[in-house]
Order: sequence, then structure tokens, then C-alpha cells
Amino acid sequence: MTESPTSRPQVGQKVRSFYEEMPFNYYDSTEAAADYIRTNPVEASYPDLHALLSTGEIKTVLEFGCGAGWLSNSLALHYGLMVTAVDFTSKALERARGVSELLGIDDRTRFVESNLFEFQDSPQVDLVISLGVLHHTGDTRGAFEHIQTFAGSGAFVYVGLYHFYGRREFLRIFHELLERESEAAAFDHYRELDGVRQGDATHMLSWFRDQVLHPHETQHTLKEVAGWSAEDGLSIQSTSINGFQPLGELEPLFESEKEYEARSHQANVVEKRYFPGFFVVMAQRV
Ligand SMILES: C[S@@+](CC[C@H](N)C(=O)[O-])C[C@H]1O[C@@H](n2cnc3c(N)ncnc32)[C@H](O)[C@@H]1O
Repeated sequence: MTESPTSRPQVGQKVRSFYEEMPFNYYDSTEAAADYIRTNPVEASYPDLHALLSTGEIKTVLEFGCGAGWLSNSLALHYGLMVTAVDFTSKALERARGVSELLGIDDRTRFVESNLFEFQDSPQVDLVISLGVLHHTGDTRGAFEHIQTFAGSGAFVYVGLYHFYGRREFLRIFHELLERESEAAAFDHYRELDGVRQGDATHMLSWFRDQVLHPHETQHTLKEVAGWSAEDGLSIQSTSINGFQPLGELEPLFESEKEYEARSHQANVVEKRYFPGFFVVMAQRV
């Protein structure tokens, strides 16, 4: 499907019902979800975000597509931030609120049920964040354009998306399994690859559905996000594409991001290691 504003309603409907059945990153219990947040620092996966938050300059955050709330609740718990979080899946928000209460941080979090394209109810914030969401909207460019309007002067925008080159091998492997064998075979293979979520059956299933059975996803590049950022008055600050190293010129990175396909093959096929082909970018309002 070509992405455009007209794709949004149809894609939104499909994606929302998919997550109402089972939200992403969903644990057996509220307690298990809270435990994960207590013991898993943001730094391990997102060192650039941790470095930014450690400066103490970020006070307010708006998260789009917060799902069951691990990131919003982590930011409120570990960094004391005031977080507004938006998602259109009520089952995910119910869990997010439950975890927030259990962690005793519900005075710092606000979970709002809304389609992100329709959300207006917030002043500008210091950090706008959205991980693994915009590529499920049917209009990734339009979604980026909308969410970045909430980033004030000097504020940051942090997005995570599936990567055009990095994602190919993963999708090829699982689409072949689904076509030639069955969903059960694909799930078995997913369980073999994913060493992280072995302890909680619901959690594992919620990841498998999200990564392998999703009704709509698109894939993107750093080059593309850099173009959107320039058009929207943002400048790229860091990215996982170069392992969060200091940036330098962007052009060489646009070339090197093509190597993501070979890295994905090495991980998923040769080493049998989970590599979904996801990347993050931090940009700042210039
Ligand atoms: C892959 S999950 C990511 C959840 C969360 N960011 C995380 O990292 O755990 C995608 C989330 O985006 C939400 N979402 C997708 N399209 C949306 C839209 N148009 N408006 C609001 N939420 C949306 C879904 O409900 C789902 O919770």
C-alpha cells in the first residue's frame, strides 16, 4: 500500500484491532511488567537517550504510541520526568496505568487514549518520543510531521523505526516459514532466536505477533528521516546506525546503512541471533 493521509483510517482500524487482541510488550501480569521496569535501565538499549536525560535539562515528555507503557513509566520512575503518553489501544493503556500505580508514579504520568494524528491536547514539551509506532500508521511521514510539532525550541524528537535494509532478511525468513510451513513453525523459530523473553509466555507471544504477524508495517532509512528532519527544522544528533557514536558527516552514514542487510543476515541466519532491523534517531529543533 502506498503511504498517504488517505491510508490512515483503514490502517488505523486494522492496527488497533490487532493490538486490542494483544498489546505489544505485554506481560502475564501487571507485577511482572512493573518488575521489568524496576530492573531494566533505559541506558542498556538507548545510551544516547540516557545521556540526554542525565543532563537534567529534560523535564517534560510526550510519548506517541506508548503501548503498555514501559518507556513512559521508566522515564517517570528513573528520571522523575512528567510524561504524557498517547495510544489508541485501550487494553494497552489500562496496563500502562496499572503499572504506573503499582510503581507509585501515577502523579507523574498521564495516559491518553487517542489516535496520534488527532491528538492536540498538550503544550510543547522538551522531548517527543515514539518507538516502533510511526511505521504502523499508513502515513509515516505525516505522523512524524505531526508529532514533531510538539517539540518546542531546542527540544528533542526521538523516533524508532524499522529499517529498510535491516528488516529485509528478518521478514524474508519469517514470511517463508509462514508460507511454506505454518504460524506454529514460525513461532517455534522466533522462540529459538529470541533469547531475551524466554521467562514469560505472554510476553514472548506479544513480541512474536508484533514482529512477525503485523497487519501493516513500512521500513525506512536514516537518509529518509534526515530529509524529514531538515524539512521540519530539526537537526540529527545521534543514531543507532553508527552505534551512537559522534555523528560527523551524514552522507557516509547513508552509504553505510545499506550494510544493515548483511548484518541482519549474519545475525539471523549465521549466528541464529535475533535481529529485527530496528533503528533509532535523535533530532533537535534548531
Ligand atoms: C509496536 S507497539 C510499540 C509500543 C511502545 N512504543 C513500545 O515500545 O513498547 C505500537 C503501538 O503504537 C500504537 N499505535 C499505532 N498506530 C497508532 C495511531 N495511529 N495512534 C495511536 N497509537 C497508535 C499501537 O496501539 C501500539 O500500542
